Amino acid sequence: MLIDKTILLVTLLVIVTGCSENKVHYDGEKLLKLKCASCHNLDMPPKTYKDEKAPPMMAVAFHVKDFMKVSSPSDKRPKFINFFQDYVLYPDAKKSFCDKESLASYGVMPSQKGKVSKDEVKAIAEYVFDFYDQDKFLQQMRVQAAFDVLPKGEQIATKKGCLTCHGIDKKKVAPSFKEISKKSSKEIVQVIENGSRGKWKGFERMTMPPFKGKLTSKEKDILINWMKKL
Ligand code: HEC
Ligand code: HEC
Repeated sequence: MLIDKTILLVTLLVIVTGCSENKVHYDGEKLLKLKCASCHNLDMPPKTYKDEKAPPMMAVAFHVKDFMKVSSPSDKRPKFINFFQDYVLYPDAKKSFCDKESLASYGVMPSQKGKVSKDEVKAIAEYVFDFYDQDKFLQQMRVQAAFDVLPKGEQIATKKGCLTCHGIDKKKVAPSFKEISKKSSKEIVQVIENGSRGKWKGFERMTMPPFKGKLTSKEKDILINWMKKL
């Protein structure tokens, strides 16, 4: 009995001191979703709604970055975080970077004092600053735009990872789709479903994985039609 109690006490002590020694880690992304998403849309690019309660977080991040005055680029992140910490707890029309019209239509943000702590806002602001990055966003839009103009079959082959092994008209670790397209549609479908190994000379060491259930029959049709036109 005595031993049991000692063990319990020691365990408790470890837990208690362990907690006070470790600094609390705040997860900015989680906190943002938990504390801010009820008003601010968090998507990038953002979804906008008719009766939205607040500007999307991407818009907030971009225009605070753009309009905030800084003496050097390295000041930007710390100033941004300070602004967030202040604004979320003590919002004021005079401090807002929102244009007059938007302010009038949204109304000034209600103070989140009591709902979120200053340390939590710090973690949120750090995450927001890094995640809503203009260059990253533009790059993402360019990649998306380039993807959108691809033939549908190539889009599917990209999304499903086929092109990591197959080239379109050049072989990679697997034969090119142009070569493969000479086979019958029936055979092609069969291999997509069940995978294959050892049929193609020079590719014996690679296995074509089975994709059963991973593509709809419509996707398979589009893929094969695309291959046949290569
Ligand atoms: C109850 C709705 C609501 C919640 C919850 C809310 N906001 Fe806002 N927020 C708004 C509105 C409305 C505006 C636009 C008007 C303004 O600038 O005050 C705004 C503006 C802001 C601005 C200022 C943008 C500028 O242009 O100056 C920041 C920064 C901001 N919010 C951060 C946050 C963060 C971080 C959270 C979560 C901790 C949060 N907000 C939670 C409604 C909300
Ligand atoms: C991990 C690499 C890998 C991935 C990913 C992969 N394949 Fe393959 N694929 C191969 C290899 C290797 C072969 C040659 C197999 C053989 O020799 O039997 C092959 C062969 C094929 C064939 C040949 C059919 C035949 O009868 O000879 C088709 C069709 C095919 N793949 C389609 C696809 C499609 C569509 C995808 C994406 C949904 C895909 N593959 C993804 C490696 C891959």
